[in-house]
Amino acid sequence: MQAESLTLSGRWPDDLRGVFYRNMPARHERGGTRYRHWFDGDGMVQAFRIENGRISHLGRFVETRKYAAERAAGRLLVPAFGTRLSGMQPITSPDQMNVANTSVIRHGDDLLALWEGGSAWAIDPDTLRTRGPVVWRDDLAGLPFSAHPRRDSDGSLWNFGIAGNQSLILYHVAADGRLKRAAALPVADLPFVHDFAITERHLVFLLPPLLLAMERLIEGASVLDSYVWQPDRPMRALVIAKNDWSRQRWYELPAGFLFHIGNAWEEPGGTIHLDYLRFADAAVLTEHFRALMRGGAVRHDYAQPARVTLHASGKAAQAVLPGRSEFPAIDPRHNGRRQRYLVVVEASGKLERPGFNALRRIDLDRETEQIHRFGDEVMLEEHVVVPKSATAEDGDSWLLGTVLDTAAGVTRLTLFDAARLADGPVAEAALPYPLPLGFHGHFVRA
Ligand SMILES: [Fe+2]
Repeated sequence: MQAESLTLSGRWPDDLRGVFYRNMPARHERGGTRYRHWFDGDGMVQAFRIENGRISHLGRFVETRKYAAERAAGRLLVPAFGTRLSGMQPITSPDQMNVANTSVIRHGDDLLALWEGGSAWAIDPDTLRTRGPVVWRDDLAGLPFSAHPRRDSDGSLWNFGIAGNQSLILYHVAADGRLKRAAALPVADLPFVHDFAITERHLVFLLPPLLLAMERLIEGASVLDSYVWQPDRPMRALVIAKNDWSRQRWYELPAGFLFHIGNAWEEPGGTIHLDYLRFADAAVLTEHFRALMRGGAVRHDYAQPARVTLHASGKAAQAVLPGRSEFPAIDPRHNGRRQRYLVVVEASGKLERPGFNALRRIDLDRETEQIHRFGDEVMLEEHVVVPKSATAEDGDSWLLGTVLDTAAGVTRLTLFDAARLADGPVAEAALPYPLPLGFHGHFVRA
């Protein structure tokens, strides 16, 4: 998909130049067979290039092995996360199922299209043509590399992968793209984990009680159908020292489910603060995103912002804020450090369809907030925080994202001034077509 020049409105700032990348599942059926879960579709990376008073758009499928083989065959051959049909190929390695559809991040000379069950997939940042799977080290080939790496203040990248239910793989990648360190740590009863957090000295994992029953997988169930929600078990928190991965602390929180963590930071004495988007249970993953694929009216649960305190003594506390929120975003320079603002997309008012209609910025210090609500025909997607300059204070930023306007039948890029979010977008750029609803994006300044 390609559009040379989007229809601009409002005032796009002259010094906001660069590329806004997004990723999404964009092909949900092939050869008359439809996937059963929203997360299954082949990844398509979008690039919105903002330069010289003009914005262009390019979208291209990631040519994973699965995508290439199924395109050639004209039908689905390989199981996906939530779809495993009779006659499909047996799974011998996670990358067979890799659809590279969840996030995208610029790192070194590559743009990495990320999934969470297998390799990062390198693509050309300009043409979006696929280069191939990233092998960080020969013994790590094909192992999971999550879609939520965290950029540290020195430019290095931390990430994790969950292999089976007993192996937590940690990665530390230098700013130039080379692997500094990686290891597989044995951890009992690893559940579904989508995101994690860093602080100045630690890596922090929240482990919801959505546990993998290996026997189901062996019996032929999809990966999704092999996870079992166990509400009588707590949500565990695991804290690992960055400089010594054998130093680990465990905590327990009430049972709950999450996809995303906003941020974490620690006090000099060791107390860790973390905010995340908390679901009461995992039905959003196991039921609602599946029902979406069948169309029609579906129930949809939302997450609430939750603030967790992990004390050095081993005690954990949690406060849940009001809201129906997702896609937390922070000023990326504050990753792992105390931040004042958390930006989320919100289901505001009496919205009863799945998705979001508002953008909300929470001031965590003052416990105040700003919100801008679109009409209910607008489906809001993730908005990322773009600092206005390298030295701008936390909060002096643009919020950049996409909305699907279902009435107009187009996707628009929207830009907010974070400090005046409630005033609505300061600028928009309309595509001549709609894009599928997606997951995560990343802005790279020119
Ligand atoms: Fe995510």
